[in-house]
Amino acid sequence: MTEPIYLDHQATTPLDERVLEQMLPYLTHEYGNPSSSHARGRAASQAIRDARRRVADLVGAKSDVEIVFTSGATEANHLAIMGAALEARPHGGHVVTTAIEHKAVLAACQRLVDHHGYTMTRVGVDEHGRAHPADIAAALTPRTVVVSVMHANNEIGTLQRLAAIAEITRPRGIVLHTDAAQSAGWGLLDVSELGVDLASVSAHKLHGPMGIGALYLRGGTRIVAQQTGGGQERGLRAGTPNVPAIVGFGAAAHLVTSDAVPSPTRVRALRDRLQDLLLDSVPGATVNGHRHRRLPGNLSLTLPGIEAADLLDRLPGIAASTGSACNTGSGEPSHVLTAIGLTRAQARATLRLSIGHTTTETDIEQAAKLITDAVGAMLPASARAA
Ligand SMILES: Cc1ncc(COP(=O)(O)O)c(C=O)c1O
Repeated sequence: MTEPIYLDHQATTPLDERVLEQMLPYLTHEYGNPSSSHARGRAASQAIRDARRRVADLVGAKSDVEIVFTSGATEANHLAIMGAALEARPHGGHVVTTAIEHKAVLAACQRLVDHHGYTMTRVGVDEHGRAHPADIAAALTPRTVVVSVMHANNEIGTLQRLAAIAEITRPRGIVLHTDAAQSAGWGLLDVSELGVDLASVSAHKLHGPMGIGALYLRGGTRIVAQQTGGGQERGLRAGTPNVPAIVGFGAAAHLVTSDAVPSPTRVRALRDRLQDLLLDSVPGATVNGHRHRRLPGNLSLTLPGIEAADLLDRLPGIAASTGSACNTGSGEPSHVLTAIGLTRAQARATLRLSIGHTTTETDIEQAAKLITDAVGAMLPASARAA
């Protein structure tokens, strides 16, 4: 049986073999606990230091101590939002985010509301999925302590204007967090350029292993630890570090910063080809997200008259998603798609195809044909393209 064509790189990416190679010793003979003072412990500790340097380079951090390893972007989002908001409690109890955040961010904000008496404002976005800095400014109150705006959206790929938002939050002393899980692998994340105080990243979105991520914490930004115990990660995230995964994250980060992965331009060209083929062959199909300020591999397409979940059921030869992987199977239309103005029916007719480094030109041509044929079979004859 042939493997399905993998067009779900925004859900996760395959582990790069070069990453696996660097992880293997730490899964086998290099098994020391980095807190141990003997040689094996010291080797593990050194491996973590090297990986921390590499992840710091990936995000553009000034110093390695600005990196806190976590179990992924979900945990980093919670640590950032809960940690910064609780730290700033004496100064206020209001957080601002956007309507299109990943559920991990929305859940962390909601937790502050439900359990800690904070209030939250969710700023809307335009039809391209962009939050306007003026709308963020208008949402601020003297009690606002944290603003969290994602860098790139996981469903529609839209990139936000974080530098302009930082110009609003910085003079007011408000902590600015970004969920950069989707952008870091494309070399798009530079925390200095964007002016963010906190940024969440995840290894499995950039050909590293699952279950490892990091929070970038700008020097001087204070947060309350959410998991305490053995004092690891400078007391900000207790628990024996996952050494093989951290090494893998460092290796994956290094592949990005040393240009050892194919260029985003190649992926963008493949995405554009798939977009053109499907816009030509599927009547009334429309692209969601910003046409230019969008991740290179993202293609969110609304195919009128089609239930995207049914379409995917008919396409065992393609691995893709309706909205985000997290929404798939929930039956609820995506909050991102409804926030950009799609009706519930349009949201249910939306397919997310995400292209990555392993995608080939043949994959694109074959996927376009498979999708076109399946859509043709689902639409009444009168609605098919001539
Ligand atoms: C934007 C965004 N934030 C957070 C996450 C969660 O990341 P992780 O799987 O590392 O917890 C994802 C992944 O699905 C994502 O796309």
